[in-house]
Amino acid sequence: MQNVTGLRTVEWKNNKVIMIEQTKLPNELVFVEYNDFHQVANAIKTLIVRGAPAIGVSGAFGLGLAVLQSQANTRDELISDLEKARNILFATRPTAVNLGWGLEKIMNVAKTGESVEQIRELVISTAKKMADEDIEINKAMGKNGAPLFDNNDTIMTHCNAGALATVAYGTALGVIRATRESGKNVKVIATETRPIQQGSRLTTFELKHDGFDVSLIPDTAVGYSMANGLVNKVIVGADRIVKTGHVFNKIGTYQVATMAKQHGIPFYVAAPLSTIDMKTKAEDVIIEMRKGSEVTGIGEKKTAPDDINVINPAFDMTPPELITGIITEKGVAIAPYEESIQKLFEANN
Ligand code: MRU
Repeated sequence: MQNVTGLRTVEWKNNKVIMIEQTKLPNELVFVEYNDFHQVANAIKTLIVRGAPAIGVSGAFGLGLAVLQSQANTRDELISDLEKARNILFATRPTAVNLGWGLEKIMNVAKTGESVEQIRELVISTAKKMADEDIEINKAMGKNGAPLFDNNDTIMTHCNAGALATVAYGTALGVIRATRESGKNVKVIATETRPIQQGSRLTTFELKHDGFDVSLIPDTAVGYSMANGLVNKVIVGADRIVKTGHVFNKIGTYQVATMAKQHGIPFYVAAPLSTIDMKTKAEDVIIEMRKGSEVTGIGEKKTAPDDINVINPAFDMTPPELITGIITEKGVAIAPYEESIQKLFEANN
């Protein structure tokens, strides 16, 4: 089998978008190929591609397809076609800020183009650059985060914030990779992450392929693992972080963080600056609600009675008082977050 970290989760090749079909993992490693931005929108919506940075880059590549699909003869017609495509791509998933960030970045560059040809070139080259930069950013985040972890630590992670949630290398799992690359021996405990099981299907898959010592636990064993001294530190990714340090991430993150606090275990978040939304207030972030069938069955097997009412939020919010540090490519923010996050953005200019 191929080594996942050597693969790209999402890639632009010969004017097509190539993605790993993540709903098929861990049973099959299959790639899909798209030449229509509507297919990319559908892939984001149906979790063929998922994870905040990966959907940011996928949105940008979607606009790359849209400039090739457009029949526009003038600059203004092309911008108008791109705006329609942007709206369709944006409507797929509401919580991760990276999607809107990636789409806006491309739209802003497109608007600087003076001709149809120039816009086509600008959109495609910028989207490809964003994908390459995502890997560099993850590596920088890894270097900043690695010193926070010790030799022989067992690190718990929730959901998948790895190579499969980014273009490659990963955010939270990128820090774990960088810790190992710095010569430390670490073990990982991955939560199953019901209902979509990103932990069992994706995190254990990519870590096992990379030769990590990884153990899978049901989400319900987080307290047990911490109370019994099985965990030294926790690291997760994020879909959106607001300027006050409130972190929106996969449903269940808040429970893990609360339990970590109870047991005095450091709880870290790793995310690029593109995941930090300086404009939106925590109370205004939209939490995606997903279909009940994700909870009433496992695969094809029904595990709940017919017509049961289901509440299925895809994300939750972890408040800053539960977070030991937010690791970014520009450094590590610590409380008070409003100040330290602002400083990271100043360092970025
Ligand atoms: O619903 P998903 O699988 O897209 O949710 C993904 C997560 O919550 C990740 O932890 C987050 O996007 C960070 S990925 C580097």
